[in-house]
Amino acid sequence: MSINFAFLLGTAVSIANEKTTEQIDATIKIYQESCSVCHGDDGKGAVWGQQSLSTPPRDFTTDVARQELDRERMIASVTYGRPGTPMPGFGSQLNATQVAAIVDYVRARFMAPHVSGHAPLPQSHSAVTPGTEHRPDEYHAQSFPNDLQGKFENGRSIYFTNCIECHGGLGDGDGPRAYFIFPKPRNFLDSATRQIMNRPRLFAGVRDGVVGKEMPAWRFVLSDQEIADVAEFVYQEFIRTTKDE
Ligand code: HEC
Ligand code: HEC
Repeated sequence: MSINFAFLLGTAVSIANEKTTEQIDATIKIYQESCSVCHGDDGKGAVWGQQSLSTPPRDFTTDVARQELDRERMIASVTYGRPGTPMPGFGSQLNATQVAAIVDYVRARFMAPHVSGHAPLPQSHSAVTPGTEHRPDEYHAQSFPNDLQGKFENGRSIYFTNCIECHGGLGDGDGPRAYFIFPKPRNFLDSATRQIMNRPRLFAGVRDGVVGKEMPAWRFVLSDQEIADVAEFVYQEFIRTTKDE
């Protein structure tokens, strides 16, 4: 008798995905109930707070916020608050997992490079070489194998479930597990990476993994359609430098 491991694994992954969709919904609910009153639905800071609070709430969508707020600092601020400012600590209401989830949510939703059409996050370790911000035309768009169409929203959910812990909410390769991994997960914002990562390359990288590095081969757990979905998400969210490709 042979056991179909791919099938078992596939079932486990779809259960995990459902659970995570619930977790994402729960995190969105926390943001709406506890954060948006001050930080606003768009993460720019509620208008009333700009006028009435002694220190205005952070605008998460600015380049300054992206540079100053690393994940660890945000976790500390949400847990303990910011003394001397109206930013309350949530450590008594939210457990560590919930705090990490809300921080990853804020980073992915408001601080990711393409939110509100900002320029890509400038990063010291991935400085964009002048003149290389835009990849050659042949790398723009390009399709997935077998005419697969990647579904962005489903890709986002797969990314949150399977990729964020290594590649991070901003796609900068700075997820919570990255600290323990050598070589580091790929930083999708890096200008050299942006030049080589088109849809076919992303699809192949995700499907087959990277031999000798801790990038798993996802073909054992995700279907070709799911691989196209998550590759589409990575492409649109992190890789491409303009909105119209
Ligand atoms: C009563 C209003 C208020 C609420 C509610 C609130 N914040 Fe804030 N938040 C602020 C203000 C004001 C600042 C700016 C503090 C500063 O500049 O040091 C801030 C700053 C922050 C920062 C950046 C802190 C840093 O290290 O500079 C993060 C991250 C943050 N808030 C996340 C959240 C999250 C997540 C929630 C919900 C769980 C939340 N906030 C709820 C008012 C609020
Ligand atoms: C256990 C950590 C880990 C997880 C989980 C992970 N990655 Fe990676 N990823 C890596 C590492 C390490 C590399 C190799 C970096 C390099 O080659 O420079 C990498 C490389 C990549 C590459 C580049 C491949 C290439 O062609 O060079 C892509 C694309 C990628 N990951 C996408 C994903 C996606 C999408 C997911 C979720 C489905 C994911 N990764 C999950 C660690 C991880």
